[in-house]
Amino acid sequence: MFSPDFIWDNLPAGLLVIDHQARIRIFNRTLANRTGLPAEQMIGQRYPEIYPGTNKLKLLEALYTGKVYDQIRAEEVLPVPHTSILAASCRPIITAGGTITGALALFTENAHLREMQQTVMKADRLAIMGQLAAQVVHEVKNPLTTIKGFLQLLKEESHNFPKQQEYLDIMLEAIDHANAIITDFLQLARPGCSCWKRYAPEKLLSEVCLLMESEAALRDITIRQVIPEVLPPVWIDPEQMKQVLVNIIKNSLEAMPEGGQVTIETSCRTQELLITISDTGMGMNELVLENIFEPFFTTKASGTGLGMFIAKQIVHKHQGDIKVESVPGKGTTVTISLPILHREGGMP
Ligand SMILES: Nc1ncnc2c1ncn2[C@@H]1O[C@H](COP(=O)(O)OP(=O)(O)O)[C@@H](O)[C@H]1O
Ligand SMILES: [Mg+2]
Repeated sequence: MFSPDFIWDNLPAGLLVIDHQARIRIFNRTLANRTGLPAEQMIGQRYPEIYPGTNKLKLLEALYTGKVYDQIRAEEVLPVPHTSILAASCRPIITAGGTITGALALFTENAHLREMQQTVMKADRLAIMGQLAAQVVHEVKNPLTTIKGFLQLLKEESHNFPKQQEYLDIMLEAIDHANAIITDFLQLARPGCSCWKRYAPEKLLSEVCLLMESEAALRDITIRQVIPEVLPPVWIDPEQMKQVLVNIIKNSLEAMPEGGQVTIETSCRTQELLITISDTGMGMNELVLENIFEPFFTTKASGTGLGMFIAKQIVHKHQGDIKVESVPGKGTTVTISLPILHREGGMP
């Protein structure tokens, strides 16, 4: 039971031993399982002949030069598939008299490499899913437009049938809602659209204010900007960051049905730029505050619940943070922090 064969077959590591003629003497079961190579066919073969054309195998170098290799890639010893997550160590086998009589290679699981591989595979899968989702959503837009067009036609032709008109209105509303979700979703997943720039915060804010001013005026709301004289530049995707601010300001406008004021304030801390957007609106309770960043969470009849979720994703992509404070009946303050640019291209 304690024969050497039995013991090395049960080793939790792969073991490959060659003699002084480079003939394989030991090819244990763990290594056979890990590589898919049949041990019985490997034992007795000359090791270099398994891989004709490769003379840089580290195990041969250990045999011929006495060199020791630790934690090298397993492919450098056994160039077969499936070994990439194994690490290998090679040693010459030396007699008491100092003669090299063979060499051995030990293969162990490279846990760090395996973890990295799994992370990369997962990230790849997610990126592909994201692109696919964006494309699918984009494609759905066209048929929805067609359906909406025909529903509008039907509505025009059915003014004598109030019940039908009512159904058609519900259908049109549902289509508008689906379109709103698509538009919001595409803010985050615009395929292939990402353009990072060194950007002046005051430029970003004035562009956003310009975008929002007419809607604010319609609602009897003023937008006030408080900007200190000198602001350091930030490294951002300006289109996406504008989207963040638009989503937040839009919520503020929607929270003030009777009019009010939105204040956008910018300031600098040591390493970060702070942008706070405060409103004098209805505020929100604990439950809403806890769920505000959840996708599809909305308290509005025609809301998508994607605005804040998307804002958070984008801010995190900028290595920043976003926080919300609110007092029901008084108003809400959203604070975004972004890292300040210290050197050219210092961020992704
Ligand atoms: N400034 C704000 N004042 C009051 N409530 C807010 C404000 N911003 C967000 N909320 C709440 O958070 C919810 C989620 O916001 P959002 O993700 O933008 O989705 P939506 O605006 O489509 O509802 C809103 O439905 C609202 O209840
Ligand atoms: Mg919103």
